[in-house]
Amino acid sequence: MVYDNIVLIGFMGSGKTTVGKSLARQLHKKFVDVDTIIEAKQNSCVAEIFESKGEEYFRKLEQKCINDITQKKGQVIATGGGLPIHSVIPEKSLIVYIDADFDVILKRLSTKERDKRPLLQDTSRAKALYDERIDTYKELANFRVDANQSIQTFIHVIFDYILDQRVL
Ligand code: S3P
Repeated sequence: MVYDNIVLIGFMGSGKTTVGKSLARQLHKKFVDVDTIIEAKQNSCVAEIFESKGEEYFRKLEQKCINDITQKKGQVIATGGGLPIHSVIPEKSLIVYIDADFDVILKRLSTKERDKRPLLQDTSRAKALYDERIDTYKELANFRVDANQSIQTFIHVIFDYILDQRVL
């Protein structure tokens, strides 16, 4: 299989954006972040979109955004944590699951980073969402990386895996 793009999935705060930027740099590919594109197009941040238009509206934007982005090839794409749950990731995507434990995620996120994420406001609800989602992440992924350590310690594992694959 020849893949068109590398798509990073995983729960909120698992490090998809940081990993994606670093991978794109090392692989000489363009980095694209779905949430950032949605925010730019809507001229509004994710929390505001959730508040003013609702989650369902945001999910439709996500599906459209990933469809549009994947018209191009050879990119590293970071998705929002709910995208693989609510949207279909286009075929020919090499899907990498950034797998961090829930308590590790909570420790990693600053208050500012938490405040940006409407679904992370209530910790017990967020934990339930985490438990609900992990099986889907695992099923969709071509590759899963243990992301419970610092990014520097696991990024080379993803890098080595990708080098063995055929990605445009
Ligand atoms: C969401 C994750 C967020 C963002 C939105 C919803 C989710 O992205 O898309 O707040 O449903 O998990 P990150 O995974 O980058 O935090």
